[in-house]
Amino acid sequence: MINEEALKTVVREKYAEIALQDKTTNASSCCGSGPCGTYTIMSDTYDHLNGYHADADLGLGCGLPTEFAHIQPGDTVVDLGSGAGNDCFVARAETGPGGKVIGVDFTPAMINLARKNADRLGYNNVEFREGDIESMPVADATADVVVSNCVLNLVPNKVNVFQDIFRVLRPGGHFSISDVVLIGDLPEKLRDTAEMYAGCVSGAIQKYDYLDAIRKAGFENLVVQKEKPILIPDEILLEYLSPEELKAFVESKTGIFSITVYAEKPGGDPEVYKQKTEKRKLELRNLAAEAGKGCCAPDSGCC
Ligand SMILES: C[S@@+](CC[C@H](N)C(=O)[O-])C[C@H]1O[C@@H](n2cnc3c(N)ncnc32)[C@H](O)[C@@H]1O
Repeated sequence: MINEEALKTVVREKYAEIALQDKTTNASSCCGSGPCGTYTIMSDTYDHLNGYHADADLGLGCGLPTEFAHIQPGDTVVDLGSGAGNDCFVARAETGPGGKVIGVDFTPAMINLARKNADRLGYNNVEFREGDIESMPVADATADVVVSNCVLNLVPNKVNVFQDIFRVLRPGGHFSISDVVLIGDLPEKLRDTAEMYAGCVSGAIQKYDYLDAIRKAGFENLVVQKEKPILIPDEILLEYLSPEELKAFVESKTGIFSITVYAEKPGGDPEVYKQKTEKRKLELRNLAAEAGKGCCAPDSGCC
């Protein structure tokens, strides 16, 4: 069993390596640099979004959280595990020059890359801070919106992260986070492999526990905005499992899912809260219409 600090060191080293690679090398690996051949878990494409900059896209995401984050002009947005700045620059297109975006990442090489990208783009309202998202270098009640893309699965203590998100959000603020979760138990060999951990899957927890951690941190109005299965090709799984173990894994119907989750910190301006509730109800109606595609609909019992 590797301890939490050792896991973080593995993750930091892995992402430092990725920060120094070119995008083509990253694209041919699993959730960035790794031993996984041609597999990447990101099937949504970013390049249609306002604010997208190819240099900041290292192919490391597993969703499009900014698309669901209801960012308003003038907002302050905090992006957890900001990498080369991909989601920060998309968020900045929505906050406009009157808002502010703060990216937090604990890999110095990623912070350097993100800062270079911001300088090149001439953005003076996008800032990158080095720090651990279990205890962010961000003051209490700073953010209107928190976003994150495929990061919490890498963090050993997800409860700490949700508690810290609660702290940095203003009352009435909200988050939209894309991440990897499990339904059912992954074979030990996958869970224990540090290499696979840095590849986004072995550190993922059960969806139920993930949502529970959000509620226990004090958030309300939780919505799973998007959910889809991640299908890992057999040739990759066979690097970790014997053919018999692979068969048992497939038959167990254990699933690895990419989800995008939204929740609100209570409080704030009652009028803004009312508007948000209306938007959320509309979103729930749209999700209900898509319920057959695996989204979380009202009264479906899944959230
Ligand atoms: C899969 S990448 C995602 C990067 C970015 N969100 C994107 O979509 O391009 C994960 C990032 O989270 C960072 N990270 C992982 N664990 C972290 C932690 N505990 N605190 C801060 N950053 C962390 C890594 O350094 C890496 O840059």
